[in-house]
Amino acid sequence: MNPLVIAVPVVVVLALVLLVAAARRRDTDEATGLLSRETLKRDRGEPAVLAGATRITGREVERSVEVERRGGGAELATVGAADLAPYVPPDPDTLGVTRRQFFNRSIVLLMGLGLSGFGAAVLAFLWPQPKGGFGSKIRVGNVADIKAAVDANDGFYYVAEGRMWITNYPEAAIDKAKAVYPQPVLNSMEAGLAVLYQKCPHLGCRVPDCKTSQWFECPCHGSQYNQAGEKKGGPAPRGMDRFVTEVTGGVLTVDTGTVIQGPPIGTNTTGQEAEGPHCVTGGGGGH
Ligand code: FES
Repeated sequence: MNPLVIAVPVVVVLALVLLVAAARRRDTDEATGLLSRETLKRDRGEPAVLAGATRITGREVERSVEVERRGGGAELATVGAADLAPYVPPDPDTLGVTRRQFFNRSIVLLMGLGLSGFGAAVLAFLWPQPKGGFGSKIRVGNVADIKAAVDANDGFYYVAEGRMWITNYPEAAIDKAKAVYPQPVLNSMEAGLAVLYQKCPHLGCRVPDCKTSQWFECPCHGSQYNQAGEKKGGPAPRGMDRFVTEVTGGVLTVDTGTVIQGPPIGTNTTGQEAEGPHCVTGGGGGH
């Protein structure tokens, strides 16, 4: 399953929960806190009432104190509607923002920014990469055009976008090739083209062509391969690796995201020998 399907809903739900929780926080100036267990227990208990004393409630005590503060029980003055000043809502700018509000809003803002950044980073990491380049399917072009490019480059056509070499593959060798290569590799060979990964199967150097010998010859440790990428010498454990290929409507497409291991040592479907001096020393000999 695509991890994006799980990660995106989880990030969204977490962000919503945190934002809702922050929004529900009461933004008041009242002192808040926790009463000790002993105080709560005492408050729940029955208040002590002296024998014969009239039991009065806390509200009555508060009311009597308020009345006393206002003048000992004097009646409140009544005013007419005309005497009432119209209500003018306070200007929020004049009221300003309390320190508590400032910190609360700052925390919510920073939390929102942090979650947004984290979510964006996760999405960017998991988002499918745009197609194109090495690792994707590459539409190399018309087979006829590619063959022309191979001939124009003395037998070796390099496709940098796919980190691949393309060479001509002789039609006469197809029967032998069918006994060695899987169909995804054969697809291009049957069209007359060998598609080879540039990476040396020994220790990963980029294998260059050698125009004089008409082989591939690795400068790192001297491994050599014929034009079909079959090992001819050196320490490499096999022939050059290949890709999944397909030819549709005369157009060659190479899936560089799927590497197929090269043929085993001893494979020689074309019988091509060196056609001139080698580019690296020790040519032709195995390690
Ligand atoms: S990396 Fe090519 S021969 Fe060692």
